[in-house]
Amino acid sequence: MLVREFLELASPSHGEVWVDATAGFGGHTFEIARAVGEDGVVLAIEKDPVTYEMLVNNIAEMGFKNVVSINSDYIKLSDIVISRVGRRPNGVLFDLGISSFHIDEAGRGFSYRKDEYLDMRFDPSRGQPLADALKSLSEEDIASIIYAFGEERRARRIASAIYRAVRRGELTRTAELNSAIRSVVPARILNDVLPRVYQAFRIFINEELEHVAIGLASAAASLEDGGRLVIISYHSLEDRIAKQLGKLPIFERVNKKVVRPSETERKRNPRSRSAKMRVLLKVGDMDEKDIYNHIAAFVPRFRRRP
Ligand SMILES: C[S@@+](CC[C@H](N)C(=O)[O-])C[C@H]1O[C@@H](n2cnc3c(N)ncnc32)[C@H](O)[C@@H]1O
Repeated sequence: MLVREFLELASPSHGEVWVDATAGFGGHTFEIARAVGEDGVVLAIEKDPVTYEMLVNNIAEMGFKNVVSINSDYIKLSDIVISRVGRRPNGVLFDLGISSFHIDEAGRGFSYRKDEYLDMRFDPSRGQPLADALKSLSEEDIASIIYAFGEERRARRIASAIYRAVRRGELTRTAELNSAIRSVVPARILNDVLPRVYQAFRIFINEELEHVAIGLASAAASLEDGGRLVIISYHSLEDRIAKQLGKLPIFERVNKKVVRPSETERKRNPRSRSAKMRVLLKVGDMDEKDIYNHIAAFVPRFRRRP
């Protein structure tokens, strides 16, 4: 997404160290690897083990010698870059959220358009699938997840329908989640509401926004002076955190207005429509904890009611 615009504004250059914090199958990774050349390095981080396996195959198939990969969460970015590369990075890219693979092929219930088991974890070897997690949530908990992470104002009504379906033992698949939502939402707005509820549960199960804040703080602190931090976000909750980061005195904004995909890219890939890119230039130093504290205030939280 936004590959040409990214290369133009962030200009990864010969001999530099870059981190692709969300490597996916390597779309951006390989472009950066070409730009930094054999004297440079790209550290590719990917959390999803299935995606990671394909990334490793792609790296081998394309013969890149300057790409180092790791199956990990980007919250550990500063430690990983020092242990794997031994140098502070000149650039870090976050292309946040899920990939087309998650929607179309992963079979983990990320899409309301397919009938699949409700898992929703990026890394299925850790934590609980959504279908299990729902069993220990109260109706109020479900409502606050949908409200905080989906910004859906019908959260209470939807939570009540979901809670009742869970209690009846009828909520382990996407089709069942859809029918609980459909029972309380008018048909004409269903296609707006479904993506918001799915986004909310995905953010909840992966603790996504908290991880975004930790990962961005870690990247911001570890960057070299003159380094570029690039954030591509797909919804307002992510973009709000990125925007706050750009207000810190250690950054200058390379693009004053967020960059959006071209008409051609939007036509070719409808999922790119919501993408926004911010490129920040590091011009000062600040402690990782202080950076985190500054942006943490803009992370919506869900707290389980006792
Ligand atoms: C939008 S996709 C990136 C696509 C990639 N830029 C490309 O061009 O192929 C986001 C990727 O980030 C991964 N991801 C999500 N959360 C992560 C985290 N906390 N740490 C590392 N990777 C994460 C997802 O599994 C997904 O593959």
